[in-house]
Amino acid sequence: MKLTLWVALILIACVPEALSAADEHHHQQLNPKQQLGRRLFEQSCGVCHTRPTLISGMFGPELSKDSTGGNEEYMREIISNGSARMPGFKYTYSPEQIAAIAAYLKTLPRGTQDIPTVRAAAKPPTPMQ
Ligand code: HEC
Repeated sequence: MKLTLWVALILIACVPEALSAADEHHHQQLNPKQQLGRRLFEQSCGVCHTRPTLISGMFGPELSKDSTGGNEEYMREIISNGSARMPGFKYTYSPEQIAAIAAYLKTLPRGTQDIPTVRAAAKPPTPMQ
């Protein structure tokens, strides 16, 4: 087996614990509106906007408080109406639910979909991009 594959396997074994610890911490800081947004985000947006495993790609861009230039109103608009490659959610969610999702996005720092351990390495391997 190639060394890089072993490294990848070890990372996969170690990272989930670190991630879920960070996640717990983050979760506690969310107000009820943001928590609702987080739940809806996980249901409807994660498929395109989060990285399901360490080495998979993403269909859409990573989202954070700086998405759409940090403009929450524009976030609500793109969530409602979609874009060229993204479906709109105005028939799925109420304006309040869409506002909750945007409020949740505003709590996300940049880099949530980065690969933390790999990024810290001097020369990060980019397994499949
Ligand atoms: C089918 C895949 C898909 C789903 C599902 C999806 N998106 Fe997107 N989204 C995209 C793509 C792709 C883009 C990039 C713009 C484009 O190419 O049309 C995007 C762009 C965005 C942007 C703009 C980012 C920026 O900085 O310009 C926001 C905000 C966003 N999505 C939020 C959401 C939210 C919130 C949900 C869930 C309610 C969601 N998306 C569901 C694919 C998706």
